[in-house]
Amino acid sequence: MHRRLLDSGITLLGMLASLVWGVMGPIHTLSMRLRWKRFRMYQFKARPDDVFIVTYPKSGTTWMQMIVWQLKSGGSLDFRHIEDVVPFLDRCGAADLPRLEALESPRFFKSHLPYEDVPRGGRYIYVVRNLKDVAVSYYHHYLLMEDFKGGLNVFVKMLVTRRTNGGSWARHVLSWLEHRNDPNVLFLSYDEMQADLPGTLRRVARFSGLTLDEALMPLLVEQCGVAFMKRLEARFDPRLSRRGNFVRKGETGDGLRELDAKLQADVLCEEQRVFDRARELDASGALERLLRGEVLSSHDASKEATHEKLRKLPS
Ligand code: A3P
Repeated sequence: MHRRLLDSGITLLGMLASLVWGVMGPIHTLSMRLRWKRFRMYQFKARPDDVFIVTYPKSGTTWMQMIVWQLKSGGSLDFRHIEDVVPFLDRCGAADLPRLEALESPRFFKSHLPYEDVPRGGRYIYVVRNLKDVAVSYYHHYLLMEDFKGGLNVFVKMLVTRRTNGGSWARHVLSWLEHRNDPNVLFLSYDEMQADLPGTLRRVARFSGLTLDEALMPLLVEQCGVAFMKRLEARFDPRLSRRGNFVRKGETGDGLRELDAKLQADVLCEEQRVFDRARELDASGALERLLRGEVLSSHDASKEATHEKLRKLPS
């Protein structure tokens, strides 16, 4: 009897938590977007050589922030927090303008905005991560940062019904997918970054107009590695919560390991729209495989051609 009461209590609490987050998530997203719109429309002015790192949450944003900073600074660890040197633009307001203006060009920013909402006039590095891995990573983020009390199944339900802070993964990815071959967009996947970190550093440097000293490569690769970043955890944790690991595992494939068949099917419903569009855009199936988290064996030639074009853009 007691056990049944306890089980019902826990189920009820899970439902309540899901309800509260179901309401809070969209309000949070809306308020961020309104604040941002005011800032973007009236205050912030992008420079032509600005680079915006754009991601859906938990797709390797912090990792890319570290990569660009390591490339820009030649391996400097002289920063208190990564957002001091690569600011999170979506959280900036008018009071931050002097600090942003003072950053040396090329400036790098982090953003989670869909394509239509990012400031125009810069360059964009978009990092996509397969949704199954995002789901597990985001769940741990909610446990750590949002005091989330529901289980993984409750969280996945919220994610696929677009009730997390990040909104719809499919909408976000689709908005950038259409622009993946624009000359000022570098479209990368978390999984290809994993597969070839030195290659990623070279591509990001070339795209951002930075000169890469090949002699520094071993140092930069080490300092952008997950083990090194874990040791500097406090410099990457967005809220310095210290209640767990913000730089968690840094692996590909957690989604397949931790989500059961039912949860994987739930996630697939959200992913399918993106896979379908990818197949329309690229009949070879390479783009779809990239979005599924399967790494391409070689860089696709059109991407390299695009980067050639970019080098000719005025800076
Ligand atoms: P996991 O939770 O799967 O470990 P974001 O910065 O967008 O919030 O993304 C966080 C994810 O990137 C986390 O994934 C984190 O561990 C991973 N990550 C951070 N630094 C990394 C690195 N150097 N190499 C690989 N993954 C990294």
